[in-house]
Amino acid sequence: MRLPGADRPLLAFIGGTGPEGRGLALRFGQAGYDVIVGSRSPERAESIAHELSLSLPHANVEGRSNDMAAAEGDMAILTIPYAGLKETLPPLEGPLRGKIVVSAIAPVEFPEGRPVALRVEAGSAAQEVQTCLPKSRVVSAFQTVDAHVLGDLSSELDTDVLVCSDDQEARREVIRMAGDLPGVRALSAGRLSASRYLEEVTALLIVLNRIYKAHSGFRITGIKY
Ligand SMILES: NC(=O)c1ccc[n+]([C@@H]2O[C@H](COP(=O)([O-])OP(=O)(O)OC[C@H]3O[C@@H](n4cnc5c(N)ncnc54)[C@H](OP(=O)(O)O)[C@@H]3O)[C@@H](O)[C@H]2O)c1
Repeated sequence: MRLPGADRPLLAFIGGTGPEGRGLALRFGQAGYDVIVGSRSPERAESIAHELSLSLPHANVEGRSNDMAAAEGDMAILTIPYAGLKETLPPLEGPLRGKIVVSAIAPVEFPEGRPVALRVEAGSAAQEVQTCLPKSRVVSAFQTVDAHVLGDLSSELDTDVLVCSDDQEARREVIRMAGDLPGVRALSAGRLSASRYLEEVTALLIVLNRIYKAHSGFRITGIKY
């Protein structure tokens, strides 16, 4: 069902009904990508897709169950909470085989209301995704991009997006894609094991947001690119 979007991958957001998935879908839709909003509930997916399409008259936006989204998309972006990873991914192993799967998951918990980065046995959520989806080309990106900023089209993104993967070509493709978003500079952060740092620093950004009542992002200095 590739409609307009032409040479760009059709993006399927697994768990696309939450703020992060909706926000990324909105920005990629605005940048000319066609998107599928995935959900455990096809009705919820359709409702959010309809909502997004009102802001994206030039993009094709569809709502599907997560498994249909995984099957129809050229590339998947995981925007589910870490707690749902082990249950959500195994049934998607077949439809996501051979495809680029981008993990935006940051395992952060809030014991006593304070953000704490979880220690993940695999090293990072993205590495756990790779274990669940051994035949997919897993890339880690977007953890440090705040959903509120993504969802507000009147605000400039103004951020770096660090991208890591063990698959160099997949990493390059996601760097190109993230760079299509105005205000984003996408940088390679090397191998997938670096995802741990991207995921953990998200907890720090949440602390900063609370102190400064802000929606902080991430800029690396000293790299001319
Ligand atoms: N919020 C941010 O600013 C932000 C920034 C950077 C990265 N992230 C990361 O992006 C991911 C999504 O963040 P979010 O704030 O959008 O999360 P969320 O609202 O808690 O969850 C997103 C969607 O995932 C589905 N979901 C919820 N629990 C699930 C479970 N146990 N199993 C499977 N699916 C489940 C829900 O969709 P359905 O009920 O429709 O299936 C929900 O709408 C998280 O991993 C987060 O760490 C968030």
